[in-house]
Amino acid sequence: MARLLSVLAAVVAVTGPVCLAYPQEVPASKVFLNGRQVGTEYDYIIVGGGTAGLTVANRLTEDGTTTVLVIEIGQLSNSAAITSIGKVVGGSSAVNAMMTVRPAAEDFDTWGSFFGPNSHWSWSGLLPYFKRALNFVPPDEAVTRSANITYDTSYWGSTSGVYAGWPSFQYPSTTAQMEAFRGIPGVPFVQDSGSGQPGVYWYPTFMDPKKVERSYARTGHHDQAATRPNYHLATGSKVRRILLDGTKAVGVAFVPASAERTAPESVVRARQEVILAAGGIHSPHILQLSGIGPRQLLTSAKIDTLVDLPGVGQNFQDHPMIQATFQYSRFNIRPNPNDLYSNATFRAWSEAAWAANRTGPNSIATGNAAAWLPFPVVSTRANEIAAALEAQNHADYLEPNTDPTVAAGYRAQMLAYAAALRSNGSAFYNLVLTGGPSNGILVNLHPLSRGTVNIDTSDPYNRPPRVDYRALSNPLDSVVMAELVRFTRKYHLENPLTRDWAATELSPGRNVQTDQQFADYFARTLNPSEFHPVGTCAMLPRELGGVVDEELRVYGVEGLRVVDASTMSTLVGGNTCQTVLRI
Ligand SMILES: Cc1cc2nc3c(=O)[nH]c(=O)nc-3n(C[C@H](O)[C@H](O)[C@H](O)COP(=O)(O)OP(=O)(O)OC[C@H]3O[C@@H](n4cnc5c(N)ncnc54)[C@H](O)[C@@H]3O)c2cc1C
Ligand SMILES: *[C@@H]1O[C@H](CO)[C@@H](O)[C@H](O)[C@H]1NC(C)=O
Ligand SMILES: *[C@@H]1O[C@H](CO)[C@@H](O)[C@H](O)[C@H]1NC(C)=O
Ligand SMILES: *[C@@H]1O[C@H](CO)[C@@H](O)[C@H](O)[C@H]1NC(C)=O
Ligand SMILES: *[C@@H]1O[C@H](CO)[C@@H](O)[C@H](O)[C@H]1NC(C)=O
Repeated sequence: MARLLSVLAAVVAVTGPVCLAYPQEVPASKVFLNGRQVGTEYDYIIVGGGTAGLTVANRLTEDGTTTVLVIEIGQLSNSAAITSIGKVVGGSSAVNAMMTVRPAAEDFDTWGSFFGPNSHWSWSGLLPYFKRALNFVPPDEAVTRSANITYDTSYWGSTSGVYAGWPSFQYPSTTAQMEAFRGIPGVPFVQDSGSGQPGVYWYPTFMDPKKVERSYARTGHHDQAATRPNYHLATGSKVRRILLDGTKAVGVAFVPASAERTAPESVVRARQEVILAAGGIHSPHILQLSGIGPRQLLTSAKIDTLVDLPGVGQNFQDHPMIQATFQYSRFNIRPNPNDLYSNATFRAWSEAAWAANRTGPNSIATGNAAAWLPFPVVSTRANEIAAALEAQNHADYLEPNTDPTVAAGYRAQMLAYAAALRSNGSAFYNLVLTGGPSNGILVNLHPLSRGTVNIDTSDPYNRPPRVDYRALSNPLDSVVMAELVRFTRKYHLENPLTRDWAATELSPGRNVQTDQQFADYFARTLNPSEFHPVGTCAMLPRELGGVVDEELRVYGVEGLRVVDASTMSTLVGGNTCQTVLRI
């Protein structure tokens, strides 16, 4: 499964140091290694050269004259040493699992609904930008036919430098695992993953189909902008804070990442705007360090509050991953991914196909098929659980002393989620299909609990932010997830189309049955993150604890926007990268 990734890492490792790929004599853009020789003033300064930051940098420099500096703490590198948090040019899009997923239409209508009925943040308002975000290349005919892949290009565009491609091979076992959902009445099947409808479907992969390589913000945006003299990138440079003149953002202060405690700060000024794109964890952290955030928190860290904005770093969400593992003892659909380990002939063929023309099983990253199901399809308790959510005193489930505006925003979100729990237009359940003789990754797509990302008040500039998931702090999360696991049991154990595979439940295990037993199980085993941190600079009205408005401008500050995953007010029901590219 990680085959493509490790092969790519090996391929780029031999191309060696960054200077080979970006020779000094390239006259166009400038890449300032470790932040040296940066100019003094730019039209725009973008903080973070990740998924969102490089997309915006590419768009802003398209005219050839608008000057942009991107400041990135990581390096221009494709080496296997890249950390799993994406501290590298390209950000998380350089390390992610390449699943190209577009969440349900209702998720985007929900974002807009917090601003009233006419918001342009709606499914129909956003669809053109989804089309612009990715270049969709259909799977080849042979794999389309043999795997029974369906797609509809009317939901996709063809202009972006970031590709949504497909591997040239799929296991028949993956198709069989998808088709087995037809054994459960009411499960919807969807023709295309871009349609905004939940159900069982095939989705593409962030891959350049010609090169059969990861396609991401670096290849699709940095590499395009890199030919322009008005685009500058400073690597190895950590932005510590945004500089304000009164309530106007006028620049940033940064330090070399290699000597962040000892080196003096450098300052660079922005004529137009500072654009924050440091991701769901670091964008709120930088705002707080800049004096923009909850006054009480900043005061306890001895940081002057320039703008009291209680929502910064609050409303933190990620997708919890549930351990629900089922193993088949009679899985005879061949070939399946297990054959790469158990069948030397198949493995040799697979290696040969990759070596000859980059086709075959080795061109698969993490798989392309999954179920994304509405709660009423999964559970007969949808109305009961939605009513319990509506009846909660929502503020009780946030940290004590949470600002009333943040609590009001949480309440608005929970009322929207109650509607979503009753709706067949949102997905709560996600099972990613492996095609192999066991299946285990179950994701809760709309967690109700909210965490925090706050400065460490004991030494805010030198210590990392304190990230508290507060997973399971709303007890209804556990009730929802129990239903997700019970449905998975139905798929594996009470389904005429999976019966022949003779599944055994490895986890949670048959001794976990009641809601209380599930609550205990999740408390012991839940992984609170699928690497999708969002919500910490939420796009919400200010009276609902919002940090940015519908133009992504930070409330109370001129010349400052946030454009990354942190702006999602409610976590979308799907992997987040496609949505970030679209934002
Ligand atoms: C391991 C992993 C697997 C994933 N799998 C998938 C998947 O299969 N499909 C999917 O859709 N999504 C996936 N995601 C999520 C998706 O990739 C992210 O949601 C998305 O890329 C986030 O984009 P962003 O622009 O908000 O942040 P990022 O892309 O993370 O960009 C933030 C950038 O800011 C830089 N930065 C941070 N602090 C500073 C600072 N102080 N100064 C300078 N620079 C700074 C970082 O180094 C980084 O480059 C995965 C993520 C990870 C980490
Ligand atoms: C392929 O999909 C169609 C509907 O989209 C379905 O009727 C058919 O059974 C599927 N074929 C296989 C081999 O699973
Ligand atoms: C949702 O779909 C299920 C399964 O098809 C159906 O039983 C239920 O009535 C639907 N609910 C709504 C609100 O449409
Ligand atoms: C091993 O793989 C080869 C090539 O795909 C196939 O022909 C053969 O049937 C496989 N053997 C077993 C035991 O599955
Ligand atoms: C790729 O190479 C493999 C192994 O040599 C061969 O079986 C396959 O037909 C080739 N595919 C294409 C599209 O050239």
